[in-house]
This record gives sequence, C-alpha cells and structure tokens, in this order.
Amino acid sequence: MKGIILAGGKGTRLFPSTKIISKQLIPVYDKPMIYYPLSTLMEAGIREILIISDEHNIVFYEELFGDGKHLGLSLTYKVQKKPNGIAEAFIIGEDFINGQNVALILGDNIFYGQELLKTLEEASELEEGALIFGYWVSNPESYGVIEIDNKGNVVSIEEKPKKPKSNYAIPGLYFYDHTVVEIAKSLKQSKRGELEITDVHKAYLKKGKLKVKLLGRGVAWLDSGTHDNLVEASMFIKTIEKRQGLKIGCIEEIALKKDFISKEDFKNIIKRMPENSYTEYLKRILKISF
Ligand code: G1P
Repeated sequence: MKGIILAGGKGTRLFPSTKIISKQLIPVYDKPMIYYPLSTLMEAGIREILIISDEHNIVFYEELFGDGKHLGLSLTYKVQKKPNGIAEAFIIGEDFINGQNVALILGDNIFYGQELLKTLEEASELEEGALIFGYWVSNPESYGVIEIDNKGNVVSIEEKPKKPKSNYAIPGLYFYDHTVVEIAKSLKQSKRGELEITDVHKAYLKKGKLKVKLLGRGVAWLDSGTHDNLVEASMFIKTIEKRQGLKIGCIEEIALKKDFISKEDFKNIIKRMPENSYTEYLKRILKISF
C-alpha cells in the first residue's frame, strides 16, 4: 500500500503563524507537525509516500525529508496549485498511486495510542473498498460526521453538519482501494469550491464498500486547527514524552523499530545531527532493544 500526506489548506485559522510557512511545518512540542502523520503512515508499514503541498511550501518539505532513503522510505513530492479540497490529492497523485491501494493522512492529524498500532497494520492490508475511522468527540460539527446503526454499519455521512447525527467524527486518516482515483475524478466541486473527501466516502457508501472502524478511548486523536488546539497538542505530547522518556512521532526511531533501516544507518543519521536533546534521545534508543 502507498501513502499520501496532504499538507495543504488555506492556513486562515492560524494566520499570522501561517503567513509564510504552511501549518504542517509549525512545531508541535519538539518536532514539526508533519512528523506525526508521517510516523503514523510508517507505523502502518507504508514506505512509499507522496507529500503534497502548495508551490511555495513544497521545497521546505523536500529540504526536511529529501528522498527519505535515510529513513528507509521513498518520498516524492507534488504541488497542489490551489486549495481545491482533500479529494484532489488522488487526482494529483494518480501516477504515484499507479493502480495500487492507498492511504491518505492529513498533515495536521496527530494520532497516539498502543491500540492504534494493530489497527494501522490491519488497515494497510485492506483489499477492497474504503476504510475510515470514527472517533467520539465533543464537537462533531467541526468535522466529517458518521451516523452508525446498532450493527456498526454506516447510515449517513455529513461534512461539518450544523446538527450532527452522532458524536463520531471522521479523523483525517483513510484507506482506499485503487478505485479512489476514478471516484475523485467523478466528483463535482462543493458549494465551498472544493472536492470533498466526504463525497468520496459517500460514493463508497453508495456502492456498499465503505467500512468504518471506531477508535476506542485508548487512542488520542488530536486536532491542530486552532492556536488553542496547537498548544493543547504540544502539552499532550510533552506530558507523555516527559513521563515515559519516550518520544511520540520520532521518525528515526520508528524507521529503526520497523527495520526500515539498520543500526548502522541509524548511527549515521545521528552523526549528521546537531548535539541536542533530540539526538541524545536517539542515542538512548540505540541502547534499548525492541
Ligand atoms: C477535514 C475533513 C473532515 C475531517 C477533518 C479531520 O476537515 O473535511 O471531514 O473530519 O479534516 O481533521 P478540515 O480540517 O480540513 O476542515
């Protein structure tokens, strides 16, 4: 399975912080925001990843991660000319997807939790249809919302409904079969002028091919859409990292843990980094056996 990270958006809610750089480059505690979604795809075992951002910012991502080889990944980059909606990622990424199954994660979505690891590995084995998640939140009106019957089947999906039919928001992490490209191409722009991801899911639902998995209480899904959310996410990461002495979203650690790279490769990464607490951490990781 291939993966796409969409690091686009208008950046209006975080202005002026996003006046010159994209939101997904802003740090969440001790690393750029995009490290978290990248680490989520890596945890799912996905190594071929396309990063999509706007013309101005794409070079920063290329500078940040390069071709990804040092992490045992293959990273490529593409531009989304205008914020035309999440579903456009499949049209931009058509050649990259190349008839295979694909996961999409939004560059501002942060996931954390042991339960998630198994879920991600299972999701990446999807063969047909689409798999999305449901996560109970107190403010469903800010998200895509799913209504589920008592057998766990999806009854309806709505994007940011004024009167949500449930508290289950759809996090920005989705798994699809290759037909997602054709579905995206068949979509019409919504009233706000975007190709909506919710319309992709409605198309799968219509075909009876939409699966949903509810994420339990043990999983944290954090939002980084507003300045308050950003501080809260940073505080959350800091609290867990300090308590455990283990980092969240540390892509080098995950690359080693997943055997994407050898211990030698890992040591070479450390050599190229400045001396600071992040490198100290990586050195410590070398001594821990997984
Ligand atoms: C987007 C999607 C929405 C989803 C959310 C998750 O909203 O449109 O369905 O629930 O991401 O983060 P946005 O954050 O772009 O407003």
